[in-house]
Amino acid sequence: MKKDLASLQEEMQQCQKCELFKTRKNIVFGEGISEAQVLFVGEAPGQTEDELGLPFVGRSGQLLNKMLAAVGIYRTQNMFITNIVKCRPPNNADPTQEQQNACLKYLERQIEIISPKVIVCVGRIAASSLIDPRFKMTKDHGKITKKCGKYLMGVFHPAALLRSPQNKEVAFKDFLTLKNFIEEGLL
Ligand code: URA
Ligand code: SF4
Repeated sequence: MKKDLASLQEEMQQCQKCELFKTRKNIVFGEGISEAQVLFVGEAPGQTEDELGLPFVGRSGQLLNKMLAAVGIYRTQNMFITNIVKCRPPNNADPTQEQQNACLKYLERQIEIISPKVIVCVGRIAASSLIDPRFKMTKDHGKITKKCGKYLMGVFHPAALLRSPQNKEVAFKDFLTLKNFIEEGLL
């Protein structure tokens, strides 16, 4: 990891800026390539992520990996993956606006350091926070918008796909769109 990311991670280790510090086992900083062109941002760590301190390593992460691999995107190659909120909300509750606001500063700094060209918002929470508060997944998934010099796309959260597998096909198409967008030299 680039020095700046490492020092940001170091700086966060004792973070108590919101009440999630009380119940977390580990802060989930995120992982990947420090100069990644594509940054994936999920919602918040779940139980497995909290236990291991790593992002998207539970059931959702496994499905995400499968979908990415199906279009030829690999977590070890050209991406970084993290969450809006770095500590697990108890019972996997949606992170509150206060928790998100407290933690967003870290994501902003990660974005500054990594400087990705595309940000993929995984799920409604990330998309409402980073793309538009009115973001509606059923209507807006897979659309590419430009904001502050970055391309942004919202995709279905794998946890939602595990609950509603009928959306897997459209979700897969969005990943293809993403892959083509990256390859067509738009970067
Ligand atoms: N769901 C998320 O949004 N993020 C994770 O890291 C794991 C599950
Ligand atoms: Fe700090 Fe973010 Fe964890 Fe809250 S969720 S304690 S702001 S690192």
